[in-house]
Amino acid sequence: MKRIAVMTSGGDAPGMNAAIRAVVRAGLEHGVEVYGIRQAYAGLLAGDMERLTSREVSGILQRGGTILQTARNEEFKTPAGQRKALRRLNERGIEGVIVIGGDGSLRGALALHQLGVPVIGVPGSIDNDIYGTDMSIGVDTALNTILDALDRLRDTATSHNRCFLIEVMGRNCGYLALMGGILGGAEIVITPEEGVSMEQVANQLSDAYVRGKAHAIAVIAEGAPYKVMELEQYLKQHHMGFEIRVSILGHVQRGGSPTAFDRLLATSLGVEAMRRMIRGESAVMVGRQGRENVAVPLEEVTTRTRTISRDYYELAYMLSR
Ligand code: ADP
Ligand code: F6P
Repeated sequence: MKRIAVMTSGGDAPGMNAAIRAVVRAGLEHGVEVYGIRQAYAGLLAGDMERLTSREVSGILQRGGTILQTARNEEFKTPAGQRKALRRLNERGIEGVIVIGGDGSLRGALALHQLGVPVIGVPGSIDNDIYGTDMSIGVDTALNTILDALDRLRDTATSHNRCFLIEVMGRNCGYLALMGGILGGAEIVITPEEGVSMEQVANQLSDAYVRGKAHAIAVIAEGAPYKVMELEQYLKQHHMGFEIRVSILGHVQRGGSPTAFDRLLATSLGVEAMRRMIRGESAVMVGRQGRENVAVPLEEVTTRTRTISRDYYELAYMLSR
């Protein structure tokens, strides 16, 4: 293989730049030219791509976001859009594509493979909802950002004897909320997977108040069965003791310099992706399971759901008492 392209797609995640750097430098090491596609599938359709030399990926390892930028694109979901993408790749003599992104982006990668383009996926998303890997690139950094916010909010909550309802990202996945709750010492965690009724939340919070807790922290996933504002209204009507404040962490969770863990994961998976591409593999996502890098068929990655061990829910409940 002589010419391979790389793109970042879906929501950006800290560590994507480290992965781009690893892909480019591993490619150059094997005599492969690497092209960077700007703005994901939208850029592919527009033919917006450029050769990346070692210098272009210099000094980006520690930077959040993605130098290639990212976008969401509907046209690429259609068969006509996908055929157009294939033409663009052929015009530029690109023989394979490495896609760094979330589960939607990996579905797009599978579509390219089905048109005959060799593809390797790399899991990049703060949500940790991608099947086949213990961790996706960006999760650890986002989680550390959440913990920093939780620690700060607890300081002010304690000073005022308040309850904070803190909404975290994750789309339909409760990983960030659950881990944030356990590691940030929350009184209650509400996730899409583990529906806790508003009544149960109110009971647990009044219980914490009666037991003399100086603060209460409830972490709620954005994909929970009810929105944080609805919960606030409900709790205000049911007077559970604490005064209530809401904090929606939002896109602050997506930015920032990647942690050591994310830099290592991104670097290792970026190199793994290029090696497998050069060996002629396709339609797999490289991921990390335990201490090993693995390759999981994209067919499986895009049809199965990553689950969170029940043990963590039990841990969260037990330690919140
Ligand atoms: P993420 O990759 O973070 O899950 P999205 O679900 O928004 O983000 O997907 C990113 C992009 O991947 C979409 O905007 C679209 O261009 C492409 N994509 C998503 N699903 C498909 C699909 N079923 N077929 C082809 N392309 C897809
Ligand atoms: O997939 C990453 C993510 O940050 C989700 O947690 C969130 O639901 C979504 O992307 C937000 O998307 P946008 O950046 O389009 O607002």
